[in-house]
Amino acid sequence: MGSQLFRTKSVDQLIAGTQESGYRLKKVLGPWSLTAMGVGAVIGTGLWALTGTAALGVSVEAPSIWRAPVLDLILHGAEASGIYGRPGAGSAIALSYFLVAIACGFAALCYAELASMIPVAGSAYTYSYATMGELVAWIIGWDLVLEYAVSNMAVAVGFSGYLNALLENLGFPLPEWLSEPVFRAGEATGAVFNLPAFVIVMILTMILVVGIRESARANNVMVVIKLGAILIFIFGAARYVSLDNLRPFAPHGAQGVLTGAALVFFAYIGFDSISTAAEECRNPQRDMPIAIISTLVVCMVLYVTVALVLGGIVPFFVQADDGEMVPNPIYENKEDAAFAVALKAVGLGKLEYLITVGALLGMISSILVYQMGQARIWFAMSRDRLLPDFFSRVHPKYQTPYVSTWIAGIVVAIPAGLWDIGDLAELADIGTLFAFSLVCVAVLVLRRKRPDLKRGFRVPFMPVTPILGILSCLILMSSLPLRTWGRFFVWLALGLVIYFSYGRKRSTLHQPE
Ligand code: ALA
Repeated sequence: MGSQLFRTKSVDQLIAGTQESGYRLKKVLGPWSLTAMGVGAVIGTGLWALTGTAALGVSVEAPSIWRAPVLDLILHGAEASGIYGRPGAGSAIALSYFLVAIACGFAALCYAELASMIPVAGSAYTYSYATMGELVAWIIGWDLVLEYAVSNMAVAVGFSGYLNALLENLGFPLPEWLSEPVFRAGEATGAVFNLPAFVIVMILTMILVVGIRESARANNVMVVIKLGAILIFIFGAARYVSLDNLRPFAPHGAQGVLTGAALVFFAYIGFDSISTAAEECRNPQRDMPIAIISTLVVCMVLYVTVALVLGGIVPFFVQADDGEMVPNPIYENKEDAAFAVALKAVGLGKLEYLITVGALLGMISSILVYQMGQARIWFAMSRDRLLPDFFSRVHPKYQTPYVSTWIAGIVVAIPAGLWDIGDLAELADIGTLFAFSLVCVAVLVLRRKRPDLKRGFRVPFMPVTPILGILSCLILMSSLPLRTWGRFFVWLALGLVIYFSYGRKRSTLHQPE
């Protein structure tokens, strides 16, 4: 048994598996579609909902150690300041966005090397199968399901919130019982179902079943509109920017910048999802690295600029009567709608409509790409027989993994209709950071074990880059609250129970020597 747990599937075996009839996916994607897909996945709810929240910070009414970042607890024990809330980054949220992009950059380079070397659906799951053995591969696959499913639930709920706000502004509000989460912070809200969140996921599932090319096309259009909305915000609001509003740049110093970074990390999740489409890419050796790195650079430039413009038009922090810098009261209880508040404050209320439409389309394309990635991870895990065979059935006509696409749709749509998953964004963060660190480890291991394999792209400055990648992920993970760590371990434990009671015996590697 021990040998099976750590047995790896060779890279040649992995690539051969993709050629088997009945499991073959259509190769239609080029660098533009892939980058559009990356930007499509990355820019979703995070930018719009979290920039204000992270810049302004929160103080909580019921102090609890569960809310405190793990690093804060390790350093200060019961004196940890995170027990009472989170300090705001202020205008330095732009710096948080920049630093997170650098941290993601290390992992992105590692993803690029692996995706150019192992162009097989399944992303980090497949890479760890080739390097660290079946058990680690299962853990990472299970972890990726968490990343994709939970972020998508959060984005779908965000979509519903924005749609409701838009319809309300237009004078057609949806009834609350049909458009609000049923449970919020563990309490029933009186609503029956969050229908828009459910419906949007199911519609996108149908599109994904019909075809990868159709999905990529629909995505390209939405990405253009979403970028348009961001540029309209930047150029529309730029003339109201005053440098004075950006001072003091970092009211809570490094601590504010770091906690802000852990929160806005969510906004970058998704560039890794490009690698799940490697098997449907025409020239993965060249295009995968180009697409992964361009996605990250485009998003970083947009995020930093948007954050500076937002802080520049209306200050995040103002001086109170006693001379202390406090969060600007104009944003009170509207931290997640900071864009609307700031635009109204400078008399640009009309732009709000445009931004809302752009944000909605942004969320749609984000959900689309994640659902696609998620289905492909399940597909890959089932092809290896760690999950039931029907997950890897390919549609005879559309050549898409339709069963896993439908299952992924239902698994995300129903909880999205029920829960308010605001703080579950943190759960998606921890899952993603864990996956990133394993990908960095995989690059280190494969360079030693298989130096002979052809790599379309090589990570520069080995072994410094992957080691910095692992360290940055650990720092960001330790800036997440204790309760997120607790939930993450529960999810992993559940996965281990399934593996030992089901997958291990059925695995394609479980054959007598
Ligand atoms: N990066 C995605 C978003 O911001 C999850 O919505």
